[in-house]
Amino acid sequence: MITKINEAVAYIRRVYSISPSVGIVLGSGLGSFTDEMVIDKEIPYGEIPHFPVSTVEGHSGKLIFGEMGGKKVVAMAGRFHYYEGYSTAEVVFPIRVMKFLGVETLLISNAAGGMNTGFKVGDLMVITDHISLFSANPLIGKNIAELGPRFPDMSEPYKKTLIDKVKIIAAAKNIDLKEGVYCGVSGPTFETRAEYKLLKVIGGDAVGMSTVQEVIAAVQMNMTVFAMSVITDIGIREEENKITHAEVLEAAGNAEPKLTYLFKELIAQL
Ligand code: HPA
Repeated sequence: MITKINEAVAYIRRVYSISPSVGIVLGSGLGSFTDEMVIDKEIPYGEIPHFPVSTVEGHSGKLIFGEMGGKKVVAMAGRFHYYEGYSTAEVVFPIRVMKFLGVETLLISNAAGGMNTGFKVGDLMVITDHISLFSANPLIGKNIAELGPRFPDMSEPYKKTLIDKVKIIAAAKNIDLKEGVYCGVSGPTFETRAEYKLLKVIGGDAVGMSTVQEVIAAVQMNMTVFAMSVITDIGIREEENKITHAEVLEAAGNAEPKLTYLFKELIAQL
């Protein structure tokens, strides 16, 4: 694993020699965030040794290096989901590469379904904590000491100081910000009505098919993490409506300017 990470890092450094300090992972329908970056270099995943290649619609599949909020950043346009058939090691591989490139702070976005009945489509939810319902933890297997401890503490996976900063940024701009617990599931099915109810009962506010495995890998490596969901559909509902991927992408796209603003300001204040 370490050899693979080092080979990926060595290739990237040959093409682009600057070390980014902030890493950004963009969720479904949230890819145009990078329009706000001053782009130095784009590297398609397919060119990087050992990098998986993204297959899902709405993800373009490249690392984008550049500047935002006065910091050097690297954004993943397109991420790897467990439901696509990637192993957990593949899902978290880019996060490990980011760490070895010098990234200290990781900002993650995702599209999620809402269980909290106070939420509506288009809301932004700061993730304060998560519940992993993935059967596979990405750290299962022989521990790789170079990455971090065998049993990482998970008492504060999402950095409170960053959450507080974003709340202040949002309030100053009159952006309505929800906060809550994200449940990570494998997908690719959306939840049944009974499943959304269950997730609510166990303490979840939103549910999605990404993020948790990436955050676990990042926390093991002692990265500082901030993550935010765009609520793209409401799971607990009276009507008979169905949830579609198109609807998720549309809702994410509509909420994107607010999310971009918050990420940009947060990066400037890091
Ligand atoms: N469930 C799981 N993943 C999702 C959802 C959902 O309702 N919406 C967007 N991603």
